[in-house]
Amino acid sequence: MSTKTCLYEGKAKRIYETDEPGVYRVAYKDDATAFNGEKKDVLQGKGRLNNEISSLVFSKLHEAGVANHFLRRLSETEQLVKKVTIIPIEVVVRNVAAGSLVKRLGLERGDVFREPIIEFYYKDDALGDPLINDEHIRHLGLAAPEELTAIRANALEVNRVLTAMFDEAGIRLVDFKLEFGRDEQGAVLLADEVSPDTCRLWDLETGESFDKDLFRFQLGDLNEAYETILTRLGGISR
Ligand code: C5P
Repeated sequence: MSTKTCLYEGKAKRIYETDEPGVYRVAYKDDATAFNGEKKDVLQGKGRLNNEISSLVFSKLHEAGVANHFLRRLSETEQLVKKVTIIPIEVVVRNVAAGSLVKRLGLERGDVFREPIIEFYYKDDALGDPLINDEHIRHLGLAAPEELTAIRANALEVNRVLTAMFDEAGIRLVDFKLEFGRDEQGAVLLADEVSPDTCRLWDLETGESFDKDLFRFQLGDLNEAYETILTRLGGISR
């Protein structure tokens, strides 16, 4: 496969065109960022870990009947995905109170919700990714009401599958962020990545964090924690 021009460079990934029509190559970077890019570092090996974990998770979702953009893992740091146009909405699903929600609503960190809570954020760095609701989404023309209904149902299904998957690995899926795109036929499809960069993952027994909070709040070795996640999910470890 020849190396084509980079179509997009984000904080953690680069997206390239390929020779195959309708197929993109995603290359995971070692860059770590937090707080809308205010905190930055390069952590050797992080790109490999996120690529391996995200590949595993997306494969698992495929097996469980949750359609997504993932086609196959290409190398340690790269994967092939179906071409989609990302909808600029970050969909957050929360099972346990943590992070920004604890601050916003004055909740106790660790409170378990009876039902998962879904939130939408407008993916716009300049605005700092503000929290938005269905009416904002309609006004901004980000997604049609039926697309939003599909996104909500899909996010809950992802939550159901991943909660069970992580539970088997002794990990509590606290919360996570999803992104969706439209494929060339206009169908809404789960895209982007699912990794410890985009999830909060706590040890079921000890409550220890194995996610990006380690980097955000300088709590411990991020690569070691991501390696633990990969190993517990049954992936490749070195
Ligand atoms: O910060 P907050 O508590 O709102 O984050 C909720 C979840 O969404 C966390 O798992 C976090 O890692 C993820 N997230 C993300 N990218 C963002 C914002 C949040 O992956 N831009």
